Amino acid sequence: MATAKMAKAKRSTKQAVKKYQNYINGEWVASSSGEWFDNVNPADTTDVVGRFPLSNEKDVNAAIAAAKSAAKRWRLTPAPKRAEILFKLGEILRENKDEFTRQMTREMGKVLKEAGGDVQEAIDCTYYTAGEGRRLHGFTTPAEMPNKFAMCVRQPVGICGLITPFNFPMAIPSWKLIPALVCGNTVVLKSGEDVPLSSLNLIKACEKSGIPRGVVNLVNGAAEAGVALVGHKDVRLISFTGSTDTGRIIAEQCARDNKIVSLEMGGKNAIIIMDDTDIDNAVEGSLWGAFGTSGQRCTASSRLIVHKKIYKKFCSSLVEKVKKLRVGNGLDSKTQVGPVINDAAMEKILGYIHIGQTHDKATLACGGKRLTRGDYAKGYFIEPTVFTNVSPKMRIGREEIFGPVTSVIPFSTLDEAIDIANDVAYGLSSAIYTQDVNNAFHAMQELYTGICYVNSATIGAEVHLPFGGTKATGNGHREAGTQVLDIFSEWKSLYIDYSGKLQKAQIDEVEI
Ligand code: UN1
Repeated sequence: MATAKMAKAKRSTKQAVKKYQNYINGEWVASSSGEWFDNVNPADTTDVVGRFPLSNEKDVNAAIAAAKSAAKRWRLTPAPKRAEILFKLGEILRENKDEFTRQMTREMGKVLKEAGGDVQEAIDCTYYTAGEGRRLHGFTTPAEMPNKFAMCVRQPVGICGLITPFNFPMAIPSWKLIPALVCGNTVVLKSGEDVPLSSLNLIKACEKSGIPRGVVNLVNGAAEAGVALVGHKDVRLISFTGSTDTGRIIAEQCARDNKIVSLEMGGKNAIIIMDDTDIDNAVEGSLWGAFGTSGQRCTASSRLIVHKKIYKKFCSSLVEKVKKLRVGNGLDSKTQVGPVINDAAMEKILGYIHIGQTHDKATLACGGKRLTRGDYAKGYFIEPTVFTNVSPKMRIGREEIFGPVTSVIPFSTLDEAIDIANDVAYGLSSAIYTQDVNNAFHAMQELYTGICYVNSATIGAEVHLPFGGTKATGNGHREAGTQVLDIFSEWKSLYIDYSGKLQKAQIDEVEI
C-alpha cells in the first residue's frame, strides 16, 4: 500500500490543525515517539485533515498489554451481553453517519455517496454480526460409546491485531473488529495511515458504546507499528487487508510464530460480456465497476472481456460515457470520480498507463493523463482511462493497477472468456452479463473466484455473505457472513463420559 500521502507533520501550517491521539487501555494518548504525521486531503493537499501520532513499538506494546489485561473479563462476558454493546455501537454509527461520511471523503477522496455506503457497510456489519452474540452456534454429535456426550463450542482466540487499508476506511476495520469482539477477543487496530480519522471515529464510537477499557485499542502510524504488531508474541491472530506483497511478508512472519493469519489482498477482476446481453446495462455496470472509488477497490472491474460480435459497439459506448465522467473533489455532489489516494499511488497508476501504451502497445481509447489544471493541481486526479485491444498476456491485463484504468479484451467463445478470466494470479471477484441461463450457470461454476455476479459488476458485496478470494487474493479465509467467525474463534471439542467407568474409544467393543 502506498504511503506518500502521509507526510511527517510540518512545524508550521497555515490552518490550525487538530491533533488526534491513540486509544490505549481506555485513554487517549500521544505516541511515546513524540512524532506526528499529517493526514491530508487527496483532493486538495493544502487541506490538512488532522495530525496523528506516529506510533512506535513501545506504543504497540502498551496497546497489546492493555488488550491482554482486558482479555479475561471480555472473554467471560456472556456473548449476548457483548452483542448488546455492539448493537449500541451500531446505533452510534448510524446517528453519526453524515459526519463520518464527510470526514471520510475529506481524508480518502471517494465521493460522498460512496463514503456514505462505506459507513453504511460498517453499520450493516455491526448489526448483522452483533446478532451472532445470540447464536455463535456450536454443535452436538453422538459419541461412539454409550453414556457419553460429545459437543463442539467456539472459543475466542485471544489478542487480535488488525491491519487495514485506505480504500474502505470504516467498512474494512468493522469487518474485522466486530466479529473479533462478538467472539470474545480483545483487539489492537493499526489504522490505515492514509485514513486514520475514519478508524478513530469507529473506535470513539466503541468507547461511547460502553466497551470496557482495554478491549479495543487503536494505534496510528506506519510500517513500524504494523511490524511491531505482527511480531509480538502475545498477539494470537493477525487479520490483514492490503497488498499481496505485504500480505506475503506478514504470512511468513506469522507462520514462523504459529499465529493465525487471515489475508485479503489483490484482485484483477473480470466482467465477461456476452453477445446476447443488453449492452447499455453492461456498459453502466462496467462504468460503476471500473471507476467507482476511482478503481481503488480490490473488487474493481479492471478487465472487461467482451464478445467479438459486440466488441466495437460496446467499446464506443463505454468510451463515450467514460469521457463524460465528472472527475473532481468528492465533497462536490456533482463529482462522479474522486482523486486517487496519494502521490505514490498516482505514480504507480500513471506508470501502468505508460506500460499499457509503450510496452503492451494496447490502444489508449480515452484518458491516460494526470489532471493538473486549476484546482486539479492540488490533488491526485487521473483521467478515467480505457485501454482497448488488450490481449490477456499484456501486463495491464494481468497486474493489479488499483486506479481508474480498465482494459477491454475481446473473445469468441464463453470457454475462452472463462479461461482468460481465470488466467491471472488473483481470484477475488468475477461477473458475467448474459441473458442465457445456461451461460450464467456455466460461468458461475467455472469462474475460480470467491465472489461471482450475474448481470452486475464485480463490486458491491453485501455483509451477510462471505467475502474473500482464491489464489493470490487470500489464504482461504472469508470475512463477513457467519464464515468470519471461523477466523476469530477456534473450535473446542468437548467429551462428557457419564458411564461411571473407563471407556476406550476406538478400542472397546460396544455391546448392543
Ligand atoms: C475492497 O475493495 O477491499 O464489494 C472491499 C465491494 C465492497 C467492499 C470492497 N463492498 O466492492
